[in-house]
Formats: sequence, C-alpha cells, structure tokens
Amino acid sequence: MSTASEQSYEHIIVTHPAPRVALVTLNRPKALNALCNALIAELNTAFKALDRDDNVGAIVLTGNEKAFAAGADIKEMKDKTFAEVYKHDFIRSWSEMTQVTKPIIAAVRGYALGGGCELAMMADIIYAADTATFGQPEIKLGIIPGAGGTQRLPRLIGRSRAMELILTGRNFSAQEAYSWGMVARLFPSTRVVEEAVSTAEQIGKVGGLAVKAAKEAINLGEEMGLGEGVKFERRLFHGLFSTADQKEGMAAFAEKRKAQFKHE
Ligand code: CAA
Repeated sequence: MSTASEQSYEHIIVTHPAPRVALVTLNRPKALNALCNALIAELNTAFKALDRDDNVGAIVLTGNEKAFAAGADIKEMKDKTFAEVYKHDFIRSWSEMTQVTKPIIAAVRGYALGGGCELAMMADIIYAADTATFGQPEIKLGIIPGAGGTQRLPRLIGRSRAMELILTGRNFSAQEAYSWGMVARLFPSTRVVEEAVSTAEQIGKVGGLAVKAAKEAINLGEEMGLGEGVKFERRLFHGLFSTADQKEGMAAFAEKRKAQFKHE
C-alpha cells in the first residue's frame, strides 16, 4: 500500500488503478478544478510521497470530463497585493511538480486553461481528449501566465504561435495542440485516462532506474547546450551499467526470454 494513498485529501484523490501506477485526480468539480493554494499544497504532498514510493513507477494526473483545471483560483487571488505575492513568492510552489523524478502523464479532458494548461505542460507527456480545450487566457485578466506558460509554451509549440496565444488569450483545441507537438496522443474523452494508465503501466514494467535516467536526461538536457546534453546523457548511460536491471535486461535478450526488472 502506498503512503500517498493512505492519506486522505480534500481537493485531490489518489488511487492505484494498475500495478505500479498512481492516478492523481483533481477534485474540485464545482470550481472546475480551479487551482487554489490548498489544492496545490495537497498535490505537492502527494507527488512527494509517490516519488518516494517504491511501488509506484509512473503517475497519471487528471481532472474530470468538464475540466482538467480552469486555472489558478481567480476568486482566491483577486484581492492579493503586489507586496503579498512578492513577499511570499506566490505560485513558486507550483513548480515543485517538476522536481518529481518519476514520469507524470497528464490526461487532459475538458478545459486546461491558465494554470491548468501550465500544470499539463509541467507533466512529461500529455494525452488529451479530442474535445479538450487549452488556453492561456491570463491576458484577459490583466496578468500574464505565472506558472511557466510564457516559458514552456514557446518551447513546446514555437515562439510565434505561443506569442499569438498568450497575447490574445484565445483558447486552442486539442487538435491544434496535437498538430503542434504539445500533446502526444488524442483519444475520445471516455478513453483518455485508461490509455494514460495503460502507458503508465507499461513504463512501470521497465527498469525504474533507466526510466528515471531517461526523464532526467531529456528534462535537464532542455536546459543545456547540445554538446553538454549529449555528454550528460552518456554519463547516465554509463552509470546504468552498474544496475542489476541492465544485467537482467541484456541477459534476458541473449537468452530469448522476458526480462524481470527489479528496479535496482
Ligand atoms: N477560478 C475560480 N473559480 C473558477 C475558475 C477559476 N479559474 N474557473 C471556473 N470557476 C468557477 C466559476 O466561478 C463557477 O463558480 P460558481 O458556480 O460559484 O459561479 C464554476 O467554476 C463554474 O464555472 P462557469 O460557470 O464559469 O462555467 P462555464 O462552463 O460557463 O465556463 C470557463 C467555463 C470558460 C472555463 C470559465 O469558467 C472560465 O473562463 N474560467 C476562468 C478561466 C481562466 O481565466 N483561467 C486562468 C486563471 S489565471 C491563472 O491561471 C494564472 C496562472 O498562470 C497561474
């Protein structure tokens, strides 16, 4: 039993729908999963626990059919002052999700707007319902994206498209997000979570140390030059030769049998 699943939360639900898979469901349906401080705090607690849990290999993050998340909670932040948000570095804690070392798949249905779109972009893979709606509408509220939108969106879909979307605040469709490479795969709304869980299960079956190294190489590589990134990859590659999983994976290939990874 997982540590995270033993804990009960008010705004999220953590379940284990398949071996080595955790499913984290945002659960503030009446507010379209608007991301209030309490929800983000619970999400960070759950992610930390799941990252430590040896029985979890990959995590799926989802909302409900109407909304993945409709953004930061506007009612909660509308009266905040500059002094308050600056002093407490408002929204910094949202990025804790990017410190999780296990793969996170966002399964997006309905609205993924503002902070909801940014949360999806902090995941490692995005699967979306073909009816999902993305957007960074902050400009219409007199602000700009504050949880990485101006940085991640251009990296994912290109500068000109991101500039147009962020400056106008227009929503974009799942098909657009898919054709621009932001979304890995599209599914009917009824299937997107099960498909994400199935992929997470597949990831959970291969060697956990190699999975961790691959995620680290891709994500840290984005912050490095090509030469540095390739060298970093090679060092991680070398390191994996010290793992039992590498010995098992290659022995199983040579012996024409299925590998039994122990994630060590
Ligand atoms: N914050 C707080 N409450 C929200 C919310 C949000 N982001 N989004 C929706 N809600 C609430 C609504 O106020 C409403 O509550 P009540 O029933 O108490 O009135 C409830 O959720 C249902 O919403 P709607 O009645 O508006 O539903 P709809 O189907 O008519 O419209 C919507 C759906 C188009 C998504 C609309 O709710 C909307 O535009 N939401 C705001 C989207 C937005 O601007 N997000 C960006 C937030 S800023 C941000 O995220 C900053 C950042 O970068 C971190």
